[in-house]
Amino acid sequence: MAYRAVKGMNDILPPEIELWQQLESAFVRAAHLYGFAEVRTPLVEPTELFVRSIGEVTDVVQKEMYTFERHHDSLTLRPEGTASCVRAYVQHSMHAKDPVTRWYYMGPMYRAERPQRGRYRQFYQAGCEIFGDPGPTCDSELIAMLVGLFQQLGISDLRVALNSIGGAESRARYRQALLDFLRPLASQLSEESQRRLEENPLRVLDSKAPRDQELTADAPSTLDALTSEDRGHFDEICTQLSALQVPYEISTRLVRGLDYYSRTLFEVQSNSGELGAQNAIAGGGRYDGLVKRLGGPDVPSIGFAMGLERILLAMGNRPVTSEPFVFVAPLGAACVREALVMAQQIRAAGFRVELDGRDNSLKSKLRRANSSGATLAIVFGEAELESGKVQLKDLAGHSQSDVARDAIAAEVAARLSASPDAARADQSGGGQ
Ligand code: HAM
Repeated sequence: MAYRAVKGMNDILPPEIELWQQLESAFVRAAHLYGFAEVRTPLVEPTELFVRSIGEVTDVVQKEMYTFERHHDSLTLRPEGTASCVRAYVQHSMHAKDPVTRWYYMGPMYRAERPQRGRYRQFYQAGCEIFGDPGPTCDSELIAMLVGLFQQLGISDLRVALNSIGGAESRARYRQALLDFLRPLASQLSEESQRRLEENPLRVLDSKAPRDQELTADAPSTLDALTSEDRGHFDEICTQLSALQVPYEISTRLVRGLDYYSRTLFEVQSNSGELGAQNAIAGGGRYDGLVKRLGGPDVPSIGFAMGLERILLAMGNRPVTSEPFVFVAPLGAACVREALVMAQQIRAAGFRVELDGRDNSLKSKLRRANSSGATLAIVFGEAELESGKVQLKDLAGHSQSDVARDAIAAEVAARLSASPDAARADQSGGGQ
């Protein structure tokens, strides 16, 4: 039997990969504009790192981690990027080098969830983390950056949900209010929620069981439990987002599924394109206590991560706007050698070239040129070469002309720069 990729893990092949590359470069460009620098951390970390940061009583830790033993160590494939960033931040004493550190990352994450559209077992995140800034200004900026990027990518129907669960004191107050609300309902909750009730009541609010959702519909609001300082922090974010004209909705039910959060929480959802039920395209929040809990100093932090597969689904099946390129089709061995040189000259001018050096007929070369997506084709046989000319075909416009061999690189460069695809390809990595 032929092998297949592991369930929930996907190959990404051309031409789809071009959309990925465009999305990644748009994200990197936005991250640079906001002052973030890239970090790359290992895909595998000590299991304990995730248990301590994400929290023991969470779906990710209890059900979804890929964990294995090697040399008596328990290791886990990273289910998210924040814990690794915090580990690296502490390990390299970043706080001593700069009071504020702004990092971004991109790469695969692993969660053994039930696969469906927009939910995979290996999926890609791009994320940003800011260490050393208590906000609220950087909170608003992060959210504005996300929304700006999604708008630039043409994702419509965006919903930004915003909430605050406050710092330690507000969270303790909220926990008590939630326990008082949930305890009388305990026997009607699902078994899992009953188990979580005393250990981690906030997680009861994430339950996917419809009955739990009904029962908790009137749960107390996190905002009512905020201290005046936490409330002031939250209100300022709202004011700043309004000044930035970023639309948002306060969602007091938003608690997010990871335990490290404090104060600001946000999620961006979209119903555009082909996204189905898994409509959260990005999520994040503040995690002021985590650096300290993982052995570092008391450094406030905030970040987000976005799911690249979901963003591509939200962008819909838009045609790939690929870099325009030229297909070179020489006929006969002498022409193939000449074409090698010609292709290098055109590439040196910065343009993509596909050279068909196979020993086959003009007809099959032209068929391949037409299906390749090339904008132009250069065709020549020995007779043309002797007269110092080659044929330049405009594959989209179905026209052709003779161009002097010596002028071909310049002519191709001029035509490809003017092609509408070139303009679009340039924009894809552009700013906001
Ligand atoms: P998260 O909400 O678990 O947060 O994941 C962030 C995003 O990753 C989601 O909004 C979604 O787009 C995508 N995602 C999550 N799970 C899957 C999956 N199984 N398949 C496809 N996409 C998925 C975090 O991971 C936090 N580390 C975010 C953060 C950074 N908070 C602070 N800093």
